[in-house]
Amino acid sequence: MSQYYQYDVLIIGSGAAGLTTALTLPKHVRIAVLSKGDLSSGSTFWAQGGVAGVLDDTDTVESHVQDTLIAGAGLCRADAVRFTVENSRSAIDWLIEQGVPFTLNDDSTEDTSHFNYHLTREGGHSHRRIIHAADATGAAIFTTLLERARQRSNIDLIEQQVAIDLITAHKLGRQGNQCLGAYVLNRESGEVDTYAARFVVLATGGAAKVYLYTSNPDSACGDGIAMAWRAGCSVGNLEFNQFHPTCLYHPQAKNFLITEALRGEGAHLKLPNGERFMARFDERLELAPRDIVARAIDHEMKRLGIDCVYLDISHKPAEFIQEHFPTVYERCLTFGIDITQHPIPVVPAAHYTCGGVVVDQHGRTDIANLYAIGETSFTGLHGANRMASNSLLECFVYARSAAADISQQVAHVELPDQLPHWDASLVTDSDEDVIIAHNWDELRRFMWDYVGIVRTNKRLLRAQHRVRLLLDEIDEFYSNYRVSRDLIELRNLALVADLIIRSAMLRKESRGLHYTLDYPELAQLAEDTILRPASVDD
Ligand code: FAD
Ligand code: SIN
Repeated sequence: MSQYYQYDVLIIGSGAAGLTTALTLPKHVRIAVLSKGDLSSGSTFWAQGGVAGVLDDTDTVESHVQDTLIAGAGLCRADAVRFTVENSRSAIDWLIEQGVPFTLNDDSTEDTSHFNYHLTREGGHSHRRIIHAADATGAAIFTTLLERARQRSNIDLIEQQVAIDLITAHKLGRQGNQCLGAYVLNRESGEVDTYAARFVVLATGGAAKVYLYTSNPDSACGDGIAMAWRAGCSVGNLEFNQFHPTCLYHPQAKNFLITEALRGEGAHLKLPNGERFMARFDERLELAPRDIVARAIDHEMKRLGIDCVYLDISHKPAEFIQEHFPTVYERCLTFGIDITQHPIPVVPAAHYTCGGVVVDQHGRTDIANLYAIGETSFTGLHGANRMASNSLLECFVYARSAAADISQQVAHVELPDQLPHWDASLVTDSDEDVIIAHNWDELRRFMWDYVGIVRTNKRLLRAQHRVRLLLDEIDEFYSNYRVSRDLIELRNLALVADLIIRSAMLRKESRGLHYTLDYPELAQLAEDTILRPASVDD
């Protein structure tokens, strides 16, 4: 039987953004944190490089701001950049207080009373400013925050719950348009439960699974973006999809990232003949921003008809490599690649969704009582290209800001009156799940081929034509059959793909991550692409 739950705050997503929000809300607030798989199923657990921040006396807010603006290719919102960078130190201090075991400097002791953490470099950063836990920063952060959340009796951590759609006053024909809760598929019971809440926070991560090859885990289906759009929220800059230049190329390695910190510590990109090639593309060589490095690799792979390029750090001492990159070292070894001796075969793969649900400095969306934070949101920080390690930072800064905002209001917002249960009276069990599997593959392949690193008008049109056909087919399927996780995700991925394509078609220039052969130049005016739902019933 389906269940009815009531919470002060419903947080959909248990990654960096969701857990930070939960932990920074007051202890008397009753919170549910949902995850559609295991609690560790988001991207956060897999983050390698670290968290950017102004942490060193020789570094400045101004310098971090400038680097972010340059990487963002003229499209960052200056106030969002400044807000994030100015709050970087306090966010990182908070993580240290929670007990995150960041890597210390070689000469330091366990005494962390002075800021004595090792800082690494990544593309686009003019300083060493990335705090990290070796090359498994995300796992260290996630594990620490989860442990803290488990100690809090006001936080219910609930796994295997797939949010399907938001419940809003408008959808129910009630007055106003505030968010009232969400319908959620309980994967264990197979029922759709109703969660009523004073506030709902979308912290569902990005949408990189819309592409065939990605560094992201299976959860990254753009669910939050799709739910927000269907509820009536604007979305911004969805054409800016970041491709990480270096994912391991190996038939058995599904999606394993080779952290940019390797290049920060001196690794070279090479062609199969051992020749370095980045000098032909950018004077910053391997530490140019990601869009430039990914395009350079794509260009060389197409020019030479090769399957991958190579990332070589074997000129560094073996101990240094093993100490700083234990995860990459061990993982590559399982595939027979000893990175202290040999170069690593790498290819670009979809990595990060720069656009998302439009929010303000507190993570507030267009709909009252609905917040979006982390990769699912569009704050304006990243502009046309996210700089490495700015994304975890954004999760922490905006989650803390959203929690502060909710705390101020929670006593004044009523719990919603009884919400209707999910209506499954008209659907049956599907006898054709092959359609879902087929559409998943088709969607991700044409997105990779037509809406990838290099775009053209013709490719975008082809993709739009196909995605519209898929959307019709999926809608019909959705109306007739009982929901499953695969169907919910496919429905969301197809919608987000459509929004990405629409956004890409509107941008008549090449800027940052959006590169099109039809408009290779930069337009004079840098403008965001904001899409607004025609009506909240779309
Ligand atoms: P996530 O951590 O992705 O969490 C999303 C959560 O939402 C999950 O719990 C998921 O189960 C849940 N969810 C999704 N949909 C639903 C639904 N419908 N119902 C219920 N729950 C749902 N950034 C950096 O700054 N530094 C790095 O070093 C770095 N390295 C990275 C390495 C890799 C391999 C990857 C993939 C990303 C990396 N990034 C890095 C990016 C960064 O990790 C992510 O942007 C960030 O972790 C996103 O956090 P989040 O909380 O927004 O979402
Ligand atoms: C990496 O470690 O290369 C990923 C960093 C990021 O995506 O910010």
